[in-house]
Amino acid sequence: MNPTVLITGASRGIGFELARQYAARGWGVIATCRTPSGALGLQALAAANPNVIIEELDVTDFYEMERLAVRYEGVPIDVLINNAGILGGNDRQKFGTFDYKAFDEVMAVNVKGPIRMVELFIDNVAVSRQKKIMNISSSVGSVKMAFPGQNFYKASKSALNMSMKILSKELRGAKEPGRKEIIIGLIHPGVVRTDFAGPVPIPMIEPEESAAGVINVIETYYTGRRQSGDFMSYTGSKLPW
Ligand SMILES: NC(=O)c1ccc[n+]([C@@H]2O[C@H](COP(=O)([O-])OP(=O)(O)OC[C@H]3O[C@@H](n4cnc5c(N)ncnc54)[C@H](OP(=O)(O)O)[C@@H]3O)[C@@H](O)[C@H]2O)c1
Repeated sequence: MNPTVLITGASRGIGFELARQYAARGWGVIATCRTPSGALGLQALAAANPNVIIEELDVTDFYEMERLAVRYEGVPIDVLINNAGILGGNDRQKFGTFDYKAFDEVMAVNVKGPIRMVELFIDNVAVSRQKKIMNISSSVGSVKMAFPGQNFYKASKSALNMSMKILSKELRGAKEPGRKEIIIGLIHPGVVRTDFAGPVPIPMIEPEESAAGVINVIETYYTGRRQSGDFMSYTGSKLPW
């Protein structure tokens, strides 16, 4: 049987491209997004690929997440990809005029959502063959590489990294069946031309290249060359914390 991937934020950008590339490999794809009716590219993908299922999911809506988890109880998910993320607006995260509502929004989507997804779907991953929980992080979450700006967003990716790193350690001692073998990944997808940051004058790669690199790195975690909890770039190089 072909493996299955569940992706959050698959309506556009990197998440959509991950869905497209996994579908092309014949994987079962559970492509989740906030508003399926508006995700026209995803709808076209699902229409052309019976192995793609679209599910409505807002990662800040715990009730919706719980309902989805109940519907998928017992279904193996080889790779869970926490991809959904927001920047929160550059102007709202400047010291002196911090907009703390933006802080809450960014943390809800980029940190709380992924953590809750893992709590709810961990046993779907545990009963799968590949057993991977992969998080789309960012190199800007690296404390060592810190530079000014986007305070909340960067803090959210550092928090995501720490939370998942802790989980990777905790799972090593897990008693529940299959959980001990789960591999946690943290992957920087590159600086990618999506709607995410808007038009900024810096070199960017296309979503196709980013997703191909991310999938490649996810596979290297599979061979065991990458340790659970490692922080990786889509290029395959290890990033500093
Ligand atoms: N682009 C880059 O250069 C870059 C660099 C480093 C890391 N990243 C990370 O890569 C990931 C994907 O970013 P992207 O560049 O593809 O951005 P994007 O084009 O803006 O796409 C973001 C995706 O997240 C979804 N999303 C936002 N809030 C959500 C919520 N509450 N629940 C569920 N889905 C939600 C969006 O859905 P809607 O269509 O419903 O809004 C969309 O599908 C993010 O985690 C981001 O931090 C991106």
